[in-house]
Amino acid sequence: MTKYIKHNPIEQAESILNHQKNLVGNLMFVEKPEEKEIVKTETQIIEEWESTSTLQELNSQICECQKCRLGATRNKFVFGSGNPKAEVMFIGEAPGADEDEQGLPFIGRAGQLLTKIIESINFTREEVFICNILKCRPPKNRDPLPDEMQTCEPYLQKQIDIIKPKLIMCLGRISAQSLLRSNETLTTLREKTHIYNGINLMVTYHPAALLRNPHWKRPTWEDLKKFRALYDKMKSESR
Ligand code: URA
Repeated sequence: MTKYIKHNPIEQAESILNHQKNLVGNLMFVEKPEEKEIVKTETQIIEEWESTSTLQELNSQICECQKCRLGATRNKFVFGSGNPKAEVMFIGEAPGADEDEQGLPFIGRAGQLLTKIIESINFTREEVFICNILKCRPPKNRDPLPDEMQTCEPYLQKQIDIIKPKLIMCLGRISAQSLLRSNETLTTLREKTHIYNGINLMVTYHPAALLRNPHWKRPTWEDLKKFRALYDKMKSESR
């Protein structure tokens, strides 16, 4: 014959939990659900990359990059900032200490001068897009190495593809030589308007160089006036 006893499920659960607590303390061990490893194929990665259509998407795809040695030493990845539909882009070399700390381009002393430069030709920082050839700071602000620039360049190219600027200003020799695949001097590169992937590109001094050598401010101003004049001409022709 079946026997029945009084059963209080809450008391029973409490007693089981107390028993477990006596054995292992406050930690509870549960079976780990099986994790399905998501492995993307090379083709999927390329397709995802090529179909990226916004700067935000691009940033989230690349901001944890570890493709070169700078990934290990950077503090913050410096994607770039400004208007995603900018008609004008300013491209520097690589983040410095302030930029690495805050994750924003050109915010240190050279950056403050760049803001003045941009405003001197009647643009605002908000309406242009500012970024660098390298997205991570080279230790002790050394020059970018060729393999670092080569590894990082597709990121800049994708930014340019998305933004589709009408005009690019390269700040300094390294930025210009890298984009134009040139070994010419800054003086020679400043002499003419170049075409980069169908986009007009001009070159001027890097603001950090102007801080070191204020004599270069005059020729920079001449470059900037030409840059603004070309922008105005392109705008009036497109009307
Ligand atoms: N110099 C650069 O080239 N880029 C920065 O973002 C800051 C300083």
